[in-house]
Amino acid sequence: MASSTSAVNRRLEGKVALITGGASGIGKRTAEIFVEHGAKVVIADIQDDLGNSIVESIGPSTCSYIHCDVTDENQVKNAVDTTVEKHGKLDIMLNNAGIGGPNDARIIDNDKADFERVLSINLTGVFLGTKHASQAMISARSGSIINMASISSYVGGAASHAYCCAKHAIVGLTKNTAVELGQFGIRVNCLSPYACATPLATKFIGVNDEVLENVMNSLANLKGVTLKTDDIANAALFFASDDSRYVSGHNLLIDGGFSIVNPSFGMFKY
Ligand SMILES: NC(=O)c1ccc[n+]([C@@H]2O[C@H](COP(=O)([O-])OP(=O)(O)OC[C@H]3O[C@@H](n4cnc5c(N)ncnc54)[C@H](O)[C@@H]3O)[C@@H](O)[C@H]2O)c1
Repeated sequence: MASSTSAVNRRLEGKVALITGGASGIGKRTAEIFVEHGAKVVIADIQDDLGNSIVESIGPSTCSYIHCDVTDENQVKNAVDTTVEKHGKLDIMLNNAGIGGPNDARIIDNDKADFERVLSINLTGVFLGTKHASQAMISARSGSIINMASISSYVGGAASHAYCCAKHAIVGLTKNTAVELGQFGIRVNCLSPYACATPLATKFIGVNDEVLENVMNSLANLKGVTLKTDDIANAALFFASDDSRYVSGHNLLIDGGFSIVNPSFGMFKY
């Protein structure tokens, strides 16, 4: 892919990034933008065909794919080790892989197995990514770990109980690891976006992209703008780059002020 970003404006020149869940949605768009800014990117996902097709469109000299289920510690370790072997280091870890899980509002209808599966991917996956990325970053005495949370990291009623628990816990993990890893020059932050049209969100609500955006715009605080994957990728770019070199332990809300005025989508009104 031809870079539309001039050499002067490239904010990740020489950096190496690993993005979990990079085969689709927010992770895919972030991979493209990181490469435009000069990074080498490794996409780790379970959707092999999609992942490989993104490598083809971005360009195999700057982007590669590795199969990695983030719930499997050996596969996460392998993704980090393979990235370091290929590029000599790891500067940026984006723990982004996630699922929406079943859209069952009532806790009495929630299965334990579904609850644990959401926690396993959306939270344990972030823990494993942080653990193995920091192993690679500690010796370099620098690095940026970025965790994908959600508005469900600070409000109730915007998603399922399991999803809300996982995203709240990501904020705790971000804070705790930011404290521990600061002594090694490693920053840890998380992003909390409002809803945006991706396969995860459209599947969870059961509508197409256009309907999802219309519904979300009607519930939004900020009018006249629709949240796109670009907006979230650009926030990830800020945390990945030296522009945020003194920012750590932060939960950046990308919600147009939604959290200030609306505590929920009213999903538990039944
Ligand atoms: N889309 C939204 O509205 C929204 C809002 C806030 C936060 N988020 C978060 O953004 C992140 C990315 O979601 P998205 O909206 O781009 O969805 P998406 O479905 O487009 O992408 C998620 C990716 O994660 C991958 N994945 C799922 N399980 C995996 C596993 N076990 N191991 C490795 N990869 C796995 C999927 O294959 C997929 O490529 C998620 O953590 C999600 O919770 C999304």
